[in-house]
Amino acid sequence: MTRPEPFRIKMVEPIRLISREDRQKALVEAGYNPFSLRAEDVFIDLLTDSGTGAMSDNQWAGLMLGDESYAGSKNYYHLVEAVQEVIGYQYVIPTHQGRGAEQVLFPLLLKKGQYALGNMHFDTTTAHIEIPGGRAVNFVTEKAFDTTTPFDFKGNFDVEKMEAFIKEKGIENIGFILITITCNGAGGQPVSMQNIREVSAVGKKYGIRVLIDAARFAENAYFIKKREKGYEQKSVIEIVKEMFSYAEGFTMSAKKDALVNIGGLLGIKEDEELYTQARSMLVPFEGFPTYGGLAGRDMEALARGLREGVDEAYLEYRIDQVEYLGKRLMEGGIPIQTPTGGHAVFVDAKKLLPHIPAHQFPAQVLANELYLEAGVRGVEIGSFLRGRDPETGEQAESPMELLRLTIPRRTYTNNHMDYVAEALIKIKERAHILKGLEFTYEPQILRHFTAKLKPIE
Ligand code: F0G
Repeated sequence: MTRPEPFRIKMVEPIRLISREDRQKALVEAGYNPFSLRAEDVFIDLLTDSGTGAMSDNQWAGLMLGDESYAGSKNYYHLVEAVQEVIGYQYVIPTHQGRGAEQVLFPLLLKKGQYALGNMHFDTTTAHIEIPGGRAVNFVTEKAFDTTTPFDFKGNFDVEKMEAFIKEKGIENIGFILITITCNGAGGQPVSMQNIREVSAVGKKYGIRVLIDAARFAENAYFIKKREKGYEQKSVIEIVKEMFSYAEGFTMSAKKDALVNIGGLLGIKEDEELYTQARSMLVPFEGFPTYGGLAGRDMEALARGLREGVDEAYLEYRIDQVEYLGKRLMEGGIPIQTPTGGHAVFVDAKKLLPHIPAHQFPAQVLANELYLEAGVRGVEIGSFLRGRDPETGEQAESPMELLRLTIPRRTYTNNHMDYVAEALIKIKERAHILKGLEFTYEPQILRHFTAKLKPIE
């Protein structure tokens, strides 16, 4: 049976497809880097699911109830209540977005040279581990790198490997363990409850703090309900609470599952001292502890979005839509990370463009071609993003070359998904004649966003 969207649309935002000639011009001007396109020149924007979703009427109504007091805004208290209700943590600090929470918390937990262990850290997370002198290490299961063989929890840690690392380096050299749910870098892949429990047990055994990067916590909980034995009958809220019970704190980009266009959170379960320190550090970076870089109205929208984000009818629709796009692509012979993840379909460009080597950025080539073909913007997650080895200056080869088609929440319909799939299937026919890319400008740090490229003749 078809499952219709559990909402109807009461406001629309027109989008337009500019001509192929204009798309070609726009792409040249953008240096063959879709990050530099003007959003107006994009027809369907699948660059990210971050801050790009549609708020509900209830959230928009909440904006009108913003209490813009500098200190003690009532919306802050609503936000604290929402976090306590959904996640079950006592201490809540608002931040302007996820990286704001990382910037405040990580320096408190990392001494110079210490390691922060993760399944796969997000780029800003890695940056905020490295800025205070820490070192980011990833332990995601090898299964994540084999895109064709399905596995229910490709976001899982290889716990044995991580434990061996802890023993080798010594407990005193480990700052914390961070569980990213879902695992963005591996394709929005979930982490199982069992794996979270095991990681937490390792943390306890060695006295290492366990934290959660919670950007897509609700999608992870939904996958646990659908895929993990013993959780079928549990509510998503119960699963969310159990996941967080195994950690001591979290950072959250609220621009994803909490359904707002801007906002973040730092949560601490019960460590009052850490909470006090984080509140003090918040002031110079983000602002007074009862607003943390957000307007009162933003906090109200966030409090409401947190509750909507765990609504099961919504989550079913959400995950179904991503799966729908994945299915259309697979039927058309496009290789993707399987099974599809929570927020995006990841196309395996290494398989689609085997003639283009990693250092000529096959997934970036595909992103550009998709824009030319259909005005659709996706994002490269591969060697172009990965960058050079900081010590040798060599181009590092990413284990995967992926084009991420990231689906904003409650924003596009399945007709949009069909259109995207048709465009990629068309590109597949001429994939073998596409050419690799080389730099015309390569900035030293975070080149992904501003580098300029050109096709190799
Ligand atoms: N952690 C994860 C897992 C993320 O995916 C992101 C952002 C952040 C932290 C940082 O949060 O942007 O609110 O400061 N991911 C976006 C993306 C940008 O496109 O995947 P932020």
